[in-house]
Amino acid sequence: MRAVIYYRKRITTVVIGLVMAVAPAMVARAQTGSHQAWMNKSLSAGRRADLLIGAMTLKDKVALVHGVSRKAHPFKGYVGYVPANPRLNIPALKLADGRAGVGNGAKGVTLLPAPIAAASSWDPSLLETYGRIIGKEQWGKGTNVELGPTIDVVRVPEWGRTFETYGEDPYLNGQMAAAEIKGIQSEGPIANANMYLTMQQETDRFHIDSVVDERTLQEIYLPPFRAAVSSGVGSVMCAYIKTDGVYSCENPHVLNGLLKTQLGFPGWVMSDWGGTHSTAASARGGLDQEMPDSRYYGQALETAVQQGQVSMATLDGHVRRILVTMFEHGLFDKPQPGNWDSQVLTPEHAAFSRRVAEQGTVLLKNEGNILPLSGVSSIAVIGMDGGTKPEVEGGGSSQVVAPYVISPLEGIRKRAGAAIKVTYSDGSDLAGAAGVAKAASVAIVFASTVEGEGHDRPNLELPGNQDELVKTVAAANPKTIVVLNTGGPVLMPWVEQVRGIIEAWYPGQEDGNAIAAILFGDVNPAGKLPLTFPLTADKIPTGTPPQWPGVNGKSNYSEKLNIGYRWYDATRNKPLFPFGYGLSYTTFRLNHLVITPISLSNGPGTIHGTVEVTNTGSRAGAEVVEAYVSQPSANGEPPRQLCAFARFFLKPGETRQARLTISRRSLSFYDTSVHRWTLAAGAYRVLIGTSSSSLPLHQDVTIKGGTN
Ligand code: BGC
Repeated sequence: MRAVIYYRKRITTVVIGLVMAVAPAMVARAQTGSHQAWMNKSLSAGRRADLLIGAMTLKDKVALVHGVSRKAHPFKGYVGYVPANPRLNIPALKLADGRAGVGNGAKGVTLLPAPIAAASSWDPSLLETYGRIIGKEQWGKGTNVELGPTIDVVRVPEWGRTFETYGEDPYLNGQMAAAEIKGIQSEGPIANANMYLTMQQETDRFHIDSVVDERTLQEIYLPPFRAAVSSGVGSVMCAYIKTDGVYSCENPHVLNGLLKTQLGFPGWVMSDWGGTHSTAASARGGLDQEMPDSRYYGQALETAVQQGQVSMATLDGHVRRILVTMFEHGLFDKPQPGNWDSQVLTPEHAAFSRRVAEQGTVLLKNEGNILPLSGVSSIAVIGMDGGTKPEVEGGGSSQVVAPYVISPLEGIRKRAGAAIKVTYSDGSDLAGAAGVAKAASVAIVFASTVEGEGHDRPNLELPGNQDELVKTVAAANPKTIVVLNTGGPVLMPWVEQVRGIIEAWYPGQEDGNAIAAILFGDVNPAGKLPLTFPLTADKIPTGTPPQWPGVNGKSNYSEKLNIGYRWYDATRNKPLFPFGYGLSYTTFRLNHLVITPISLSNGPGTIHGTVEVTNTGSRAGAEVVEAYVSQPSANGEPPRQLCAFARFFLKPGETRQARLTISRRSLSFYDTSVHRWTLAAGAYRVLIGTSSSSLPLHQDVTIKGGTN
């Protein structure tokens, strides 16, 4: 009986969906004319929006600033929906999640590796393509607002959504965010930078208050959003949490002040799903649109305007931001034939998914060059993650229905061919796993964590018996390699007992093919960690016990600027693996650093430099040249901060010159006494290397004072 009702519902939905898709186009043909001047493409987006607002009733305006529930207005698939207004030719807004591919249960889509894997490539052009593919698949599904990327800086590695981000550095995050947003928007959809602001934990996420000082907010948590705004992002999602006592989605300082005024964001802010808490305070505070429904921005907003608690000018401001962005992105003008049932995956997208997994994989340890595998006659694949239950993606709203998953066991078997025997143990029985490991030339343990939205990890340990499993296998076979499929750092109490360690993150649908290519050396690993791996549980930036996940509803950011590698440098604590670190099957040398002196009176205060990078080994491979800046101690900055990077692919023996541009902003600090970014006089040091703790080259630069 249930099935029958469901079937009927589906039919109804499809029919309504078709009518909705066709209706605006028909109306457009019938009504476009002088009385609908906003349909004139030759006018500016702003002018078109103003003309349209002039024709809108209060009800038309209110209808645009909130989503509708499926109950009130059946629609298929999309997680957010604002119905079309056929009378005025306003198309529907169709919003879908998409951090690693089209989410919300969509079928016929590609599962890409998690964003943290893509970020580990330190390759903005890869991120741009990543964004293009998500944008293209979303557009093909009829989506015109893509809910991604997640650009928050990771404060605590236990954060359940770490895998959705680009890691712990504001500069790296900003570069990656800008590239992905550009890619998404080039394919049609409006991108959505989320989650704004200070969203750094899942525990108590609907109420927790992030207590952050002004300088930390400006220097650590705001910069990725600044980069997103500069890249032209059309929408921003305000977060569930509070920033300094006020919910993000009704926080005038955070929305009207920082985002819209200081950063000059011209697009619109929507609330996270259920993240709106008020009508007048939100409307005045800067929230443009409530999602996913109309609890505060439906009838309540209409009444608030009628009674004068919210002015018409304020409502018009919200409507205008939405409309200008829609006009700018061509939503009124471009045909979008696809719908939620369209198949959008392609073989090219699958190949790209594999490429990201390969490029984002980080080689952490390779003692005695155990990798790439050579001359082995048998391989033992061990662990559920390697065969029966590969962990290929994080959970929550970013989840994608993969069209298929190649497990590591399948990928390795295919690549090994008939000449190499591949055996498997899921590791649930330690003695059995030891036996399988002992009988093989090399043992590869696959270990994983389950991470996702809605919960933080209780600690950084591998769950279950996996640490025991690694130790048992390593004791049985001295040639043991560990492959990790995690969304963030894990502790490795067995680090000295194994010969090789690979962090392959959540690698998406091409998991097995990608890891086989790395293990056998068809692809030379070149990924670099976008966050620090701690040595022990008590050596973490947020202290012991950690100032996280909060006390009495407050999460105190007392570590201030010293998150991630900044803290390890400031406290001289050695991490297990540092930020920016990753090995290769070849070797590189950096030399000839040249920094051009800057003159503030003659230029924008930018430092230019060059450095040569040479592949000194016998295999082709890629290296990332990383530049950090060390400010004069009087500025009160962490010891070193990433300020530029460049990735090169080099043939054996090849030398290329990396050009580095260090912006004035990277040399400045936020001066709270004047509430401004300031470039102070003093001696600055530029350090160059291949990880945050391997910086063999440096040059000092003297700067005369000034302000940004
Ligand atoms: C998540 C958002 C997501 C939204 C819609 C929320 O729970 O925090 O990231 O876009 O749901 O699925």
